[in-house]
Amino acid sequence: MNKKKNAAEKAVTYVQDGMKVGLGTGSTAYWAVVRLGELVQEGLRIQAVATSKATEKLAAEHGIELTPFHQIDRLDLTIDGADELDSQLRLIKGGGGALLREKITAYHSDKLLIVADEGKLVTTLGAFPLPVEIVPFATEWTVAALEQLGCSVQLRKDEADGLYISDNGNVIADCKFGIINSPEQLQKQLKEIPGIVEHGLFIGMADKAFIGCDDGSVKVIQSQPFK
Ligand code: A5P
Repeated sequence: MNKKKNAAEKAVTYVQDGMKVGLGTGSTAYWAVVRLGELVQEGLRIQAVATSKATEKLAAEHGIELTPFHQIDRLDLTIDGADELDSQLRLIKGGGGALLREKITAYHSDKLLIVADEGKLVTTLGAFPLPVEIVPFATEWTVAALEQLGCSVQLRKDEADGLYISDNGNVIADCKFGIINSPEQLQKQLKEIPGIVEHGLFIGMADKAFIGCDDGSVKVIQSQPFK
């Protein structure tokens, strides 16, 4: 049984003919792209944009043609994964390094549907290190400012043990807070640090989450009110 696949396929049932759809990144969003590819081959018509180069490639492999961003004013919905989420649909994202493009896409979507397995659901955010995308200039200063917020920081490495570089040419700082008592306050503090391009806290953005459970069911968590 594949919890990620179950969750993703449930979210895809919300995609209707003619919709403009954002395609998320990661091993759970993967299954949404695969399912959408099948539906497109069966005749579903969508306009799609991707949240990463990896998803651009995946979409192409599954026969989903992407539409240039400038040809779309607003997306109907985006389906994307998360690294952690709580019952208020506050999220940590960016484990796959795509948080900036994911946040831009989510911001311009009428609905953000999150797909995850139940291991991602937490009482309090923060066990998963918060990914923060920072510019490569004066990285040490930006890291020091992040540490002042009470976390330990690890610059993400690539497979060859060099610095991981995002699709946007930036560096990712993984910030281990342990517990984030007030994600709202933390996001304000992060916004004040020059050098930070974007952070992986997504608050007040998700509309529904589809959680794949061990017993094969998919639990749905909905934001109040559903936009
Ligand atoms: C990509 O940068 C992330 O935000 C992913 O959406 C997140 O890491 C979840 O990925 P998985 O579904 O692979 O766990």
